[in-house]
Amino acid sequence: MQPQGYALITGASYGIGEEFAWQLAARGWSIILVARSQDRLTQLRTDLMAEYTDIDVLCAAMDLTAPDAPAELFQKTKDANLKISLLINNAGFGAFGEFTSIDRERQRQMIDLNIAALVELTHLYLQPMMQREEGGIINVASVAGFAPLPYSAVYAATKAFVVSFSQALYEEARQHGVQVMVVNPGSTKTNFFEVAGHGAFSNSSMQTAEQVVAESIRAFDHDRRSVTTGVSNRLMVLVLGLLPVSWVTAVVGKKMRRRIAID
Ligand SMILES: NC(=O)c1ccc[n+]([C@@H]2O[C@H](COP(=O)([O-])OP(=O)(O)OC[C@H]3O[C@@H](n4cnc5c(N)ncnc54)[C@H](OP(=O)(O)O)[C@@H]3O)[C@@H](O)[C@H]2O)c1
Repeated sequence: MQPQGYALITGASYGIGEEFAWQLAARGWSIILVARSQDRLTQLRTDLMAEYTDIDVLCAAMDLTAPDAPAELFQKTKDANLKISLLINNAGFGAFGEFTSIDRERQRQMIDLNIAALVELTHLYLQPMMQREEGGIINVASVAGFAPLPYSAVYAATKAFVVSFSQALYEEARQHGVQVMVVNPGSTKTNFFEVAGHGAFSNSSMQTAEQVVAESIRAFDHDRRSVTTGVSNRLMVLVLGLLPVSWVTAVVGKKMRRRIAID
């Protein structure tokens, strides 16, 4: 993953996105940081530029669930004549709970961010990459995309979309010299669970954002179409593919009912 232009990272203010910014900056990439939290982005820009003096770091504070946000972002980078050689569609969130008890607006926003913004940004930035026959896109999905998950039904479905969409696009884009890869992290130590309304969560196989990003970059360097990070997550995805869906949903449902105290 040789730096050539800018890497645009969505959801760069925290967690996995922020870590992508640090690890790509260390490799010499100039970065465009995108998320809602203006203060966080400004601070991260300052920190990155202090550590890596030979790169440029720009911020775009915006809510990507706004219908025109992806097009506005694209226009901004076009007007500034910035060459985006790497797009990392990482911004996303989940929501735990019974489907009917999760706010309807919040579920729609999840679809808008996890799916609609990702598809639009991919459409906007892939075209110029294909014309130049260079560049890459990394879409952050989840192991949740490999099975229907009761009490996280919409989130898992959005990630299933990202897995399918990205794998199909890998084949189309590589005909034009562009690499598309999907990353499937398992539970990772970030704000994710808190934002999803799950409360404090940890388990022994949880990865750090640093591990997830290091594995992702390594996989991208090896031209992989998909990477599930962490040995136990890879094993889980393998097993999920072998088990009947009825069994998986029953077991996950029971476990989740206990976790979110529905029973
Ligand atoms: N952590 C996990 O266990 C885990 C597992 C599998 C997959 N993932 C996926 O990894 C990705 C990154 O999540 P994370 O774990 O790093 O969680 P996180 O720490 O909560 O970070 C989420 C990022 O998305 C940004 N974001 C949220 N809503 C946004 C919006 N409307 N517009 C623009 N940016 C928005 C947040 O910034 P602002 O709040 O500043 O907007 C933040 O930078 C997500 O797609 C998530 O689904 C996470």
